[in-house]
Amino acid sequence: MVNQIQSNKFKKILAVETSCDDTSVAIVQDDGFVVHQLSASQDKEHELYGGIVPEIASRNHSIVLLRLIEKVLHEAALDYSSVDGFAVTNRPGLIGSLIVGLMTVKSLSHSLKKPYIGVNHLEGHLLAPFLKDKSYAPPEDFNYPFLALAVSGGHSSIYLVKGPSDYTIIGMTKDDAAGEAFDKFGKMVGLGFPGGVRVDQNSKGGDKKAYDFPRSLVHDESLMMSFSGLKSSAHRLVTSLPPEEVKNRLADLCASFQESIVDVLISKMIQASKAYKIKRLVITGGVSANSRLRERSEELKNKGFQVVIPPIRYCTDNAAMIGYTGILQLNRGKVSDLSLGPQTNSLESDFKTDLFKA
Ligand code: KG4
Ligand code: ZN
Repeated sequence: MVNQIQSNKFKKILAVETSCDDTSVAIVQDDGFVVHQLSASQDKEHELYGGIVPEIASRNHSIVLLRLIEKVLHEAALDYSSVDGFAVTNRPGLIGSLIVGLMTVKSLSHSLKKPYIGVNHLEGHLLAPFLKDKSYAPPEDFNYPFLALAVSGGHSSIYLVKGPSDYTIIGMTKDDAAGEAFDKFGKMVGLGFPGGVRVDQNSKGGDKKAYDFPRSLVHDESLMMSFSGLKSSAHRLVTSLPPEEVKNRLADLCASFQESIVDVLISKMIQASKAYKIKRLVITGGVSANSRLRERSEELKNKGFQVVIPPIRYCTDNAAMIGYTGILQLNRGKVSDLSLGPQTNSLESDFKTDLFKA
C-alpha cells in the first residue's frame, strides 16, 4: 500500500534489488548520482541446473543481502544515519526472491524509523538512463520524452516514457522474451547457462548470414514482436545438423541467431520512432548488454537518432535504478507502509497501454 506523506526532502537513499537471481544494493542521490553499488551474481549456483532455480535464488539472497548492505555502507564510508530512507523492488519478480529484499528493507525502515518505498522493477529499467556516477554521465540534453526498449530474460517491450510514472506500453512480445530466446539457444548449442552472454561472446568472427533464421512480425504494422518461432526454427536446425557442424560452426550459428534478434529489435525501434515521432531512444534491460545490439544502435546515432544505452552495470538487474525510481517517488510524497507485499506481476496502474496504434 502506498500512502502520501508530508513532502520530505530525500537527498540520499539505500536501495535493494532481489527480484530474480542478482542481489544488488546501492546508495543513490536524488539527482541520479550513484554513490556506490555492489551486485552479487548467482550464475555459478544456477549453472548446474541450466537455469534459475527460484528456491536457490531466494536462499542465496537471504545469505548475501545483509552482508552486501553493510559492505556498501562501509565502502562508501557511510552508515545508516547518512541515508534518508530506502527503496526496494516489490514487483514483478520471483516471489521468494522479492520477499527477501522486501522483508529486509521493511525491517530496516521500521527499526530505523526511516520511510521506504516499494518499486516496480521495470520502471527501474526505464529510468536507468538517468543514472550517473564518477565515471559515467548520460548526454547533457537527455530528457523526457523518449521511447525505451526494455529487453531482458522476462520482458521485451517498447515504452513511451513521457515523465516519471508516465509510461505507456506501445509494443511487446506476444510470447517469449528476447533474453529467454538467447538463453534457450545457448543451451541448444551446448553453451549452458547463462546463454545470452555466451552466445554474444561466441558470435565474434562468425558469419551473420551463414544460417537463415526467421524475423517474425518484422513487416507487421504493429509494434508487436515474437521470438517463439525463432526458437522452434533454431531447435529444428540445430537438431538436424551433425554435432560436429554445431561445434565447428558455433560462431556462424551464434552470429546468425543473434543477428535475427537484433534485426527485429532495431527495426521495431525505428518503426516506433516513426509512429510516435520521437527520435530519442533508450535501450535497457539485460539484453542491452549485447555487443551487436550496441553496435547497431551506434549506427542509429549516425541516422539522426539520440540513443542512450546505460552502462552494463545499470542495464542488467541493479539496485541503482530502483534507488533512483524510489527517491523520485519519495520526493513526490509517496511512501509504502508495512502492509506492502511482494507481487509476481506489475499493478494495472503501473503502465498504460497503446498497443495497436502503429
Ligand atoms: O534484466 P536482466 O539482468 O534480468 C531480468 O530481469 O530478466 O536480463 C537478463 C537477460 C538474460 O536472458 C540474459 O541471457 C540476457 O539478459 N543477457 C544477454 C547478454 N547479457 C545478458 N543477452 C544477449 N547478449 C548479452 N551480452
Ligand atoms: Zn531486469
